[in-house]
Amino acid sequence: MKIFLDTADIEEIRAAARWGVLDGVTTNPTLFAKAGGGSYESILAEVCTITPGPVSAEVVAEDVDGMLIQGRAFAKIAPNIVVKIPMSEAGLEAIARLRAEKIPTNCTLVFSTNQGLLAAKAGAVLISPFVGRLDDINEDGMTVVRELAEIFAIHEIKSEVLAASMRGPLHVTQAALAGAHIATVPFKVLRQMVHHPLTDSGIAQFRADWDKAQRTHGGS
Ligand code: G3P
Repeated sequence: MKIFLDTADIEEIRAAARWGVLDGVTTNPTLFAKAGGGSYESILAEVCTITPGPVSAEVVAEDVDGMLIQGRAFAKIAPNIVVKIPMSEAGLEAIARLRAEKIPTNCTLVFSTNQGLLAAKAGAVLISPFVGRLDDINEDGMTVVRELAEIFAIHEIKSEVLAASMRGPLHVTQAALAGAHIATVPFKVLRQMVHHPLTDSGIAQFRADWDKAQRTHGGS
């Protein structure tokens, strides 16, 4: 399963790239507002220099023409831009039109298996079910991921399931087991995946024992 970072923070993206675990990036207007530090376009351009993987850029227009204008503009920024379009009637039409122009899309705000199926049919290459937000309203978000992964496998649909709204490391493991092709995670969750209390205490213990050995056997 590929790991994307769900952020518009350049330093976080650089860190994940240095760790060798970054397969792509997803952004949205909320993440851009949190990150600040330049226009959305300039941040996207910089992100695309850090990772050769897909970088999702989200439109805010709600009508087809507006989505197409924004999507085409994003696509000019770099070859690895994927235009993120919300699930809606206009969104499906924009996805289909951009597909005809060979501009890849990521259908976002997917909360049901049928929405994901339609988005794939319209031509989105990435389908983003929001797991955490479904869990928030007492539904099992991971079921949508599992069902979409199964349906795409059964029917040989080439779109990839991108598990989004990942709230913790357990979600990532569950998404991998459910057959998600990609999980997009906040940097905090990526860090939580790196660490384990026994690893951290083990490193400290090895260091302490090494220092002790230097004092007792030092110079011999
Ligand atoms: O990519 C957007 C998605 O991951 C949103 O996550 O935590 O705002 O529900 P969240």
